[in-house]
Amino acid sequence: MEQISDKLCRYKNHNFVIGFTTAEYIDSLQRFEVRDSDIFLVTYPKSGTIWTQQIIISICELGGGLNEYPNNLEQMPWLEYTGGLEGQDYAGRPSPRLFASHLTPALMPPGLKDKKAKIVYVMRNPKDNIVSCYHFSCVFTSLETPKSFEQFFENFMKGNVGASSWFDHIRDWHLAKDQYNILYLTYEDMILDLKTAVTKICTFLGKNLSEAAIEQVVEKSTFKNMKKDPKANYEFIPEEKLQGDFMRKGNIGDWKNHLTAAQSQRVDQLLQEKLGDLSLKFFWE
Ligand code: PPS
Repeated sequence: MEQISDKLCRYKNHNFVIGFTTAEYIDSLQRFEVRDSDIFLVTYPKSGTIWTQQIIISICELGGGLNEYPNNLEQMPWLEYTGGLEGQDYAGRPSPRLFASHLTPALMPPGLKDKKAKIVYVMRNPKDNIVSCYHFSCVFTSLETPKSFEQFFENFMKGNVGASSWFDHIRDWHLAKDQYNILYLTYEDMILDLKTAVTKICTFLGKNLSEAAIEQVVEKSTFKNMKKDPKANYEFIPEEKLQGDFMRKGNIGDWKNHLTAAQSQRVDQLLQEKLGDLSLKFFWE
C-alpha cells in the first residue's frame, strides 16, 4: 500500500485508512467464497450505513436464524477491515453472514457476480454526504482532522479522502447493476418514508415479515431509538478513537449550513459531468 497522507494509504486505486487493512487481505477478497445466503450492505462512507445495518439486522433477527453478537459491528462486520475482527474468521461464521463494505465493485469478491448473494447499496446526496464526512473526520482519530470545512471540501471533490471519490463510487456501482443482485436505495428515501424502505429491503431479502414485525423494524431504526440502542449507536467505539457521535443529526439538508453557493454549484457541475448520464434523482432538502 502506498502511503498518500498521514492517515491514508492507497491500493488498487482505492484509499484506505491506515491500519484498518492490508494489501494482502484486500487481495484475499478475490478468493473469498461467497455463499448464496450472504447479505452485503455497500455504501460510500456516511451514506446511512449503520442505519441500514440496523434495518437489515432487525429484519434478519425477526425473520429467524440469526446468531447473537454483542453489537451491530460484530453482527455485520466491514468486509475489508481486518482490525479487531479478523477477516479470516468469516469462513467459520454461520449463515446468513452479513457484511458491510465501502469497497468499489473491482475490489469485491468476484463470487458475488453469480447473482445469488444479495447487495443493498445506499446512496446519499453528495452535499449532505460531504458534511457528514467532514464532521466525522473531526471526531474520528484515525482520520486526518480537517483544518477547515473548505479544505475538506476540496479534498472530497478530488477524492482525496477515505474510500476515494464519492462520484466514482456511485458511478461504478450503478454501472455494475446488471452483474449483481442489487437493491439501490437512498438515504433520503429512508428519511422520507422509512416504512416503505424497510418493506423494500424485506422483500429483496426474501423475508416475509408480518405488518407488526415491519413496524417493529421501523421503530428500532428511527434516529431517536437507534441513538439510545447500545448495539446500534456505535458508542461502543472507545473514546480514544471516536470523540463524538456516529448518530449526529440524521437529516436532509444540513449542507445548507455548510456549503457556500459557489461550493454547491461546483458539486452540481461535477455531478452533471460525472453522473449526468445515469439519470439519478437527488433530494436536497
Ligand atoms: S459510516 O461511518 O460510513 O458507517 O457512517 P454511516 O452510518 O454511513 O453514516 C452516518 C450518518 O448516518 C446518520 N444516521 C441516521 N440518519 C437517520 N436515521 C437514522 N436512524 C440514522 N442512523 C445513522 C448519522 O447521523 C450520520 O449522518 P449525519 O448527517 O452526520 O448526522
